[in-house]
Amino acid sequence: NLSEEEMDRRIRKVKEELGSRLIILGHHYQRDEVVRYADYRGDSLRLSQLAAQADAEYIVFCGVHFMAETADILTVPEQKVILPDLEAGCPMADMADIEDVERCWEQISAQYNEEFVPVTYVNSSAEVKAFCGRHGGLTCTSSNAMKILKTLFSQGKHILFLPDEHLGRNSAMHLGLEDKDMFLWHREEWEMELPEAAPKIILWDGYCGVHQRFTPAHVDYVRSKYPGVTVIVHPECSHAVVEKADLDGSTDFIIRQITGAPEGSIWAVGTEINLVSRLAKENPDKKVFSLNENTCLCVMMSRISQPHLLWALENLQKGNVVNQITVKPEIAKDAIVALDRMLEMSK
Ligand code: 13P
Ligand code: SF4
Repeated sequence: NLSEEEMDRRIRKVKEELGSRLIILGHHYQRDEVVRYADYRGDSLRLSQLAAQADAEYIVFCGVHFMAETADILTVPEQKVILPDLEAGCPMADMADIEDVERCWEQISAQYNEEFVPVTYVNSSAEVKAFCGRHGGLTCTSSNAMKILKTLFSQGKHILFLPDEHLGRNSAMHLGLEDKDMFLWHREEWEMELPEAAPKIILWDGYCGVHQRFTPAHVDYVRSKYPGVTVIVHPECSHAVVEKADLDGSTDFIIRQITGAPEGSIWAVGTEINLVSRLAKENPDKKVFSLNENTCLCVMMSRISQPHLLWALENLQKGNVVNQITVKPEIAKDAIVALDRMLEMSK
């Protein structure tokens, strides 16, 4: 039962002792008590890029499991990626089971002559990323999904988009596609039938339970209560919410917009509460609040706590690598193809 101050002192001590052998990466949804130790903070794209460039021996990832897997894939075997709590997984990533994805792909390949490309949001397992790498596809994040889809559509390709239905639909709609161009694949329906003509995009029915809690009624409510409010949401929100919002984009995009906004501006933000609260604190000259006043917390992100971080770091200090995340080489070799294609396209 250490006090917060004592944990703080010990975490800083390990950081100092390990020096450049250690880097701590923190996603924007991490709690303040953890993210303050991060050498770098970022959205999932930026953290992937940082992991790919890092030369530290230990990369402690304060985020969720798929992010640590991505970091492991992008680093050399001598570098060790550590997730301070192994229970921190992303439920959306678990909604695309590799066997279900393969079954869907077989059906697509058997039925259509058009060229389909699988694109997976990085919120997915290493197996699903490897599947995309093997089939000419790639990964994307909420920062670059639109750019990637635009490039593929301009080449006349059709897309299977995994696992977030909403990011897929919102990106496609921004590019001018309509409902008739899309088809929603229900992963739990065994006898799923595809339409006769090849849709431009087939969406997987995965979702984020945190972002699903924002509704169009919340947008109407804040607009009536705060005239002049700007509503900004993450593209994991439903299309009905994105359509009513003023802006949508990744966590980095949301931060840039609010940080650069004029004094006195009012912002209702549809994303995870740790980020919204931090933005409110860091922008006292503006009014920043959650679009849904009933806390939208990602419980998985918040599993990483100060005691977990201290425990992982003090073990490293003693030479014990705990909670290491390793992706099997036979999966990593295909997954890296999908990630490299994305990193190349996002330059
Ligand atoms: P970003 O790509 O914006 O970091 O989002 C990741 C995520 O998990 C959002 O729920
Ligand atoms: Fe996954 Fe949603 Fe949490 Fe992001 S906010 S890590 S998508 S559950």
